[in-house]
Amino acid sequence: MLKLSPVLKWASDLVQKVKPTSLDKTKNKLAGKVALLTGGASGIGYSIAKSFLKNGLSALTIADIHKINGTEAIKDLTLQFGEDKVMFVECDVAKTNELDWTFQQTLKHFTRLDIVINNAGIMNDAAWENEIHTNIGGCLTGTLLGLQYMSTTSRGKGGVIINTASIIGLIPCNGFPIHTLTQHGIVGFSRALGGHYKRTGVKVICICPALTQSPLIETAHKNTLNRYFAKTFCKEVEGCYLQHPDAVGDGLVKIINKAKPGSIWFVENNDHPHEIRFPKFVDMINEKLT
Ligand SMILES: NC(=O)c1ccc[n+]([C@@H]2O[C@H](COP(=O)([O-])OP(=O)(O)OC[C@H]3O[C@@H](n4cnc5c(N)ncnc54)[C@H](O)[C@@H]3O)[C@@H](O)[C@H]2O)c1
Repeated sequence: MLKLSPVLKWASDLVQKVKPTSLDKTKNKLAGKVALLTGGASGIGYSIAKSFLKNGLSALTIADIHKINGTEAIKDLTLQFGEDKVMFVECDVAKTNELDWTFQQTLKHFTRLDIVINNAGIMNDAAWENEIHTNIGGCLTGTLLGLQYMSTTSRGKGGVIINTASIIGLIPCNGFPIHTLTQHGIVGFSRALGGHYKRTGVKVICICPALTQSPLIETAHKNTLNRYFAKTFCKEVEGCYLQHPDAVGDGLVKIINKAKPGSIWFVENNDHPHEIRFPKFVDMINEKLT
């Protein structure tokens, strides 16, 4: 029986448990690979950086808008994993030219690119234009650039693109309708690109963490459309457990090889990732009104 936090119990029919034994445990599966990670200066992104490097990743670019946190993250990762493995590029993912520059710098510095993780995001419906440009724009541009640089149909040798969405990409959050829009968008976009793998050699997958300790979630209640939405949000998350961000980083390492193109994964309660099983379209249609 799956154990889900209270807010998620009603969505349990979407979640398919993947047995721990069937998860990929091979160490060094990332050896020789180079990754570009957005929003890696903090929270979930920083944990993804740590997990990937711990599991053999050869080199990593962290692209983040926060220069101080980014520089600090690089210092910590260099201490843990050695010199010349990580590079920081100050970048606003909402700006195509800055993100493209980050891709170019990665290829120039590390000479190859195999994995792109579009993880930068904000939860701020009060600043919804920026939220849309960062969450949807950043993921969209990062994915298109990932395809441009890695697709076998252009200049690349294939690769993996991982988009970070959220549980709020699977079920609506009434306190955050605009954040819901951005996260549902990322899920649909990633699913739609699954069908292009054979042609491009680039596997697009999506990870949907449940509530996870990070500055984003800890300040979210201050960033709603107004105080009514804040109240609704506080009720929705009341009693919910905040998992450790390492669960997302470690979870991604477990699924990166075995995940099917276009598949959507859910990480909750510091547990192994679950694949999301979407209902068949016929089962979604209600009886016809007469
Ligand atoms: N924390 C949660 O409960 C939770 C749950 C599900 C999904 N997520 C998603 O996980 C991702 C990471 O969030 P987090 O919780 O680790 O938050 P976080 O605030 O700790 O990290 C987000 C990072 O993105 C960076 N960033 C923000 N805007 C940017 C921009 N325009 N350009 C470049 N970098 C930018 C920030 O500087 C920060 O380093 C987000 O996409 C978020 O929506 C978080």
